[in-house]
Amino acid sequence: MHITLIAGTRPNFVKIAPIIHAIKKAQKEGAAIVYRLVHTGQHYDRSMSGSFFEDLNIPEPDSNLEVGSGTQAEQTAAIMIGFEKELSQFPTDLVIVVGDVTSTMACALVTKKMNLPLAHVEGGIRSFDLSMPEEINRKVTDSITDLFFTTSRFANENLQKEGIDSSKIHFVGNVMIDTLLAQLDNLREPALFKENDLGNQKYLVLTLHRPANVDDPENLKKLLLTIQQHSHNCPVIFPVHPRTKKVMQENNMVVPQLITTEPLSYAEFNYLVKHSFGVITDSGGITEETTVLGIPCMTLRANTERPETCVVGTNELIGTDPANLSPALEKLFAGSWKKGTIPELWDGKAAERIITQIRTIYAI
Ligand code: UD1
Repeated sequence: MHITLIAGTRPNFVKIAPIIHAIKKAQKEGAAIVYRLVHTGQHYDRSMSGSFFEDLNIPEPDSNLEVGSGTQAEQTAAIMIGFEKELSQFPTDLVIVVGDVTSTMACALVTKKMNLPLAHVEGGIRSFDLSMPEEINRKVTDSITDLFFTTSRFANENLQKEGIDSSKIHFVGNVMIDTLLAQLDNLREPALFKENDLGNQKYLVLTLHRPANVDDPENLKKLLLTIQQHSHNCPVIFPVHPRTKKVMQENNMVVPQLITTEPLSYAEFNYLVKHSFGVITDSGGITEETTVLGIPCMTLRANTERPETCVVGTNELIGTDPANLSPALEKLFAGSWKKGTIPELWDGKAAERIITQIRTIYAI
């Protein structure tokens, strides 16, 4: 059996790594299964892409579509053109897409237009907010997916409500957490830890990249100043995403008490999170990691497609209004943040369940 795996952005690499490792394990067991890894090139900086391949022990991609930057339409179109050529040249039995980025949707469309079977890892999650490009990507992808691998019962319910037959839905757990648990012993202290004299649970971590938070410079500045004002002189480490960096540079935005850095490698970033007092973010994936690590997390969004991180985990949605940060930070510093537990099946074995399921379906 031949499987084509797609990865395009930073969070995709984290999700695809355990699937590759599970395929290799199946090969060792004698399963007739080969794969081809296609990198769309949506993320291309070393800090956003290359270092993840090294940290997560992902082999070099077999093909890189090198689409680079562009508007949503430009990226979607470039990925579709590149992937159609790829699939024509290298026929496959199954395409696996992960997550909810532009690469996920664009490759899903090409796959189905070429009449090939499509599996979606992390299918069924919904924010019900169509102003996010990711929600459109999720809905379009899931409307044509043949095989859904889900992270939670919420996702299963969403798919069932959309009329998807239960036989197509496989609740397997969370591949992002497979990677986190596999890498816990390999996390690496970044140089900035000693340089800034950071201590265990003596600093906060901040990440921001959603257009709703960062594209308007006034709003971004207000957010950063509010965090600075209410952080009780606790250092705030801020690895700056390229989208955010661009807005900060173009507007000469300097917030002296925030310790800014380039995007960190996987091993360094998760070392920082694991030893932090709390995390402020607008990422979805980070809320899953903080939940498993038991680190308090406040999410600067009005909604989430990962409700289990709030219902079961350590995450709390505080909205996008900077005014909401102050009470949330007070609660954190008062030591009254909720504790949380780990969601069902987030046990490090999701990718193995996916490959086992595929082997059963394809009888290999
Ligand atoms: C994308 C995903 C988002 C995911 C995020 C993780 C979509 C719609 N969004 O958002 O779901 O959470 O990745 O990072 O797919 N850039 C660089 N170097 C890079 C990559 C991007 O400089 O390696 C620049 C681009 O030129 C662009 C900006 O960063 O100006 C944003 O990149 P883009 O791929 O459009 O989306 P993200 O905001 O990263």
